[in-house]
Amino acid sequence: MIRSLCSFALIVCLTGCAGVQNALGGDGAEGARFINLFTVFTVISTIMYLLIAGALLFALSRRQRPEHTVENRRHHQTSIIVKPALVGWLALVLVGLTALTIASFFTDRSNAADARKPALLVKITANQWWWDVEYSPGNPSQTVRTANEIHLPLGVPVHVRLNSNDVIHSFWVPNLAGKQDLIPGRTTDLYLLARKAGLYRGQCAEFCGVQHARMALDVTVESKADFQRWYAAQLKSAAAPATPLELAGYRYVTTRECSACHNISGTPAGGQVAPDLTHFASRRSIAAGTLPMGKGNLYGWIADPQSQKPGSHMPTVGLEPDELHSVVAYLERLK
Ligand code: CUA
Repeated sequence: MIRSLCSFALIVCLTGCAGVQNALGGDGAEGARFINLFTVFTVISTIMYLLIAGALLFALSRRQRPEHTVENRRHHQTSIIVKPALVGWLALVLVGLTALTIASFFTDRSNAADARKPALLVKITANQWWWDVEYSPGNPSQTVRTANEIHLPLGVPVHVRLNSNDVIHSFWVPNLAGKQDLIPGRTTDLYLLARKAGLYRGQCAEFCGVQHARMALDVTVESKADFQRWYAAQLKSAAAPATPLELAGYRYVTTRECSACHNISGTPAGGQVAPDLTHFASRRSIAAGTLPMGKGNLYGWIADPQSQKPGSHMPTVGLEPDELHSVVAYLERLK
């Protein structure tokens, strides 16, 4: 029994709690503080639990002794109250609870300190089932719009402003910080301070409909220089088509169904209700983490999104084969 429990715990540690989506990663300032707090709570609670279990076993062992007659027990009950052990026990409980309160207080204060001087503002709006991302909103010359991914500069405090367009979602990048709900008609905030460069995965953590599980977010934490390079590239308008096939795709995407929902900066496509595609091919995944970015998956997704992500707002348009080839070629151009 114990062996199977240990195996189960090990499997959970190796799978659910590892890599790009790891609640025990501690790769962000808040995440690291929560792990420290978790450790303090676990250690103190374990000590308390063992002491209680020990006291219970001790009491049970004494109860079974035959010399404990009713008179003896009454005598013991009165004498035990004044026993120093009881005073020590109460003191221990008080010290334990005080330590937990203090640890919790300082963790909370440290998290609040991060929120004082954010260097970057990112607005994230949740939709069924994708993330609309806007850097530096309200500053048109510096605004970058993307979807289902965020890039964060290493060691820089970032203010994430959260909204929802439909139902309640929850923003969660376990390696970096705790969860924060996105509520329609209300703005909530989160502060991220990444401490380790790498690729992470965020996930909607509040059930929000049939495709809740396919509402992921790619997170890239990189050096300030790499972040600046990425930002400068994202600020540019979309790449122009370079081949006849790409040109055909450009014409289809910017004048037919796609343009009603998607925006592609620098082209006639100006839809605002679906992910911005200006630099679509520079992302790591398609459809909010549903499929890795790649030619085969692009064909599958554009030809029939409803079979890949049933219930998604992207309709199956029914492109002819030559239209599909050209649309994929043009989208791959949007680096
Ligand atoms: Cu959005 Cu679950």
